[in-house]
Amino acid sequence: MLSEHELPPIAPPLLAWYGEHRRDLPWRKTKDPYRIWISEIMLQQTLVQAVIPYYLRFTEILPDVRALSSCPEEKLLKLWEGLGYYSRVLNMKKAAGIIVNEMGARMPGSFKELLALPGIGRYTAGAIASIAYGERVPAVDGNVLRIVSRLLKSPEDISRQAVKKAWEELLLPVVPGESPGDFNQALMDLGAMVCTGKGTPECASCPLHAFCRAGQAGEGVLFPKKAAKKERRIEERTLLLLVDECASLLHRRPEGGLLGGLYEIPSLPGLIPKEELEKAVRQSGLYALKDGQVHGSLEQTQSSMEIEELPCATHRFSHVEWRMIAYRIHMEGLAEQAKRLEKEGYVLKKRGEDGGYPIPSAFRSYAGYL
Ligand code: ADE
Repeated sequence: MLSEHELPPIAPPLLAWYGEHRRDLPWRKTKDPYRIWISEIMLQQTLVQAVIPYYLRFTEILPDVRALSSCPEEKLLKLWEGLGYYSRVLNMKKAAGIIVNEMGARMPGSFKELLALPGIGRYTAGAIASIAYGERVPAVDGNVLRIVSRLLKSPEDISRQAVKKAWEELLLPVVPGESPGDFNQALMDLGAMVCTGKGTPECASCPLHAFCRAGQAGEGVLFPKKAAKKERRIEERTLLLLVDECASLLHRRPEGGLLGGLYEIPSLPGLIPKEELEKAVRQSGLYALKDGQVHGSLEQTQSSMEIEELPCATHRFSHVEWRMIAYRIHMEGLAEQAKRLEKEGYVLKKRGEDGGYPIPSAFRSYAGYL
């Protein structure tokens, strides 16, 4: 009988299964720690199929740590556009700078040294060290936590850091010295293909079924036990697609905050009804009158704006949900308005060109209107 503090010998059946079912993925064709690093960072919050084209393009344009270190931030954000969680790539650039300037452009060669770099946590350090260097360390991500939770039929809340740490220690003795990278990637594939988090796990085809307490009890789907989720904060915005025949206005978000340094569709807080929009836009300072007066009242202007109402959209971040309504506003003299607002981070994007401005997926529903 296994104690609470011991895992069964899962490596042999797991590796045999991996030999037959492993996914053919581009980052599995290399032992280059730089490339494995890129793939692991991309895969942290993003599904494998979505990552593949990004990984191929990124490693082609930035094939080594020197290229990453010297790549301008805006170009980097553009390469990351659509992947989300942009701090990941900004941290990679920071880490690349350290590797180039302090380590002679050689990737750190162990779990411990990798862990010291910005943006590299225990999971990523474990994945890179085991896959690229054959170091015998686990790489515990959400998939692995789910698998262990089912193997042990554990009531623990897997979002707790203490549980993650305890299970890393539990896994360490069963990570094989021969092929620790394959072992870790086998768990990842098992979590994605068999011991899944969505729907019912495929216990009948699981190589670890004989070892799995939850699976044996027919209760795989009941684990891990989920702690009540925190509600997301709701933020309501009114997007203003300010356009003329050949361009639209974008705004660079301030550094540091959510989506910092990326380009957004200008917006005003709240959900503004169409009848109130013209006044709100003029008061916002985004639309100056011909004589340069910004806060003009409606009565002072002869021509009213041409406003088109667009469909609503929502976008979920981890802690916030944006609820958006949007209007396309045809503006005369857009180029002059953009010039006037240049210092506040506004730019003009030509229609049909992306201009190199990284625009986050939160605005995807409206990209076609710009
Ligand atoms: N998810 C995270 N890392 C992965 C890897 N190396 N292969 C497949 N899925 C993953």
